[in-house]
Amino acid sequence: MVNTPIKHITVIGSGTMGSQIGMVAALSGYTVALVDISEESLVKARAMLESRMARDVEKGRKDEQQVADAFARMTFTTDRDGEVAHTDHVIEAAIEDIEIKRQLFADLDRIAPAHTILATNSSNIVSSRIADATGRPDKVCNMHFFNPALVMKCVEVVSHEGTSQETIDTTIAIAEKMGKEVVRVNKEIPGFVANRLLNAIRKEALYLYNEGVASFEDIDTAAKTALGHPMGPFQLMDLVGIDVVFLIRMAEYEQTGDEDSLPDPAVKKLYEEGRYGRKTGKGWYDYD
Ligand code: 3HC
Repeated sequence: MVNTPIKHITVIGSGTMGSQIGMVAALSGYTVALVDISEESLVKARAMLESRMARDVEKGRKDEQQVADAFARMTFTTDRDGEVAHTDHVIEAAIEDIEIKRQLFADLDRIAPAHTILATNSSNIVSSRIADATGRPDKVCNMHFFNPALVMKCVEVVSHEGTSQETIDTTIAIAEKMGKEVVRVNKEIPGFVANRLLNAIRKEALYLYNEGVASFEDIDTAAKTALGHPMGPFQLMDLVGIDVVFLIRMAEYEQTGDEDSLPDPAVKKLYEEGRYGRKTGKGWYDYD
């Protein structure tokens, strides 16, 4: 049962994921604060969203009024505390770093109204590792979107043992109002469902590449033309971000202690070279 009507959503982090999650929420009728510590990142996010929305209008996928109304419901701001003080639901889409997240959630808990749900978009850091930094562990869960969040239909809603049924129901209801298909993950496990499936494919793709069995371009071609995947595993790493792929593996290693979780050396090399994929113009592929 959902008791508190959710009107205002705060998204923390205006990167690739946060900005699109905020836009989806605003398009679904929520009032949205997109919060970042960097003014520059907010400006970039707004420009990217405006250009995406302009294209959707041009292609007849949305009408102008719908987009104007959504932007009117959105605030791009560095004033985290001012927004969180009157928000109903937080979706945290900041960096995959457990200590940063724990500090952030402790701050959010201090500032947010008592009814506010604190969700993390993290795919690897399970919410039980953050919930105890707050005084409201029953209102903490994972709400995991996929890149590009404007397009991908899936949202995984993941509870920890102490998450209340009301938090789960409310989070599912929000995702459904956003037009998403919910995958309910009943048990915490790093990577949840979709990323674990994806990781199995990625791991094999990297193995084939590292062994010199085929070029990464040809492995991508096989995934697309033999298996009907919309993009190959290397193209997908570039879309998601090599930095994100790297940090997710590191976060998993930190949780499992299993060397098998460590990033592949080829991914590590790209990460160290700052080749983060589409966002930096170079990753596996060049986007010049
Ligand atoms: N942001 C927003 N919208 C985008 C986009 C992006 N980066 N890329 C594409 N789109 C939208 C646009 O509306 C575009 O239409 P337009 O070009 O007319 O504006 C439409 O999708 C179609 O795009 P394209 O013609 O360029 O290419 P595709 O038909 O291949 O679609 C795709 C693009 C939807 C990204 C598709 O290739 C796809 O589904 N790829 C797989 C994505 C995937 O697996 N995501 C999950 C990643 S894992 C993850 O996110 C987990 C996290 O924890 C890391």
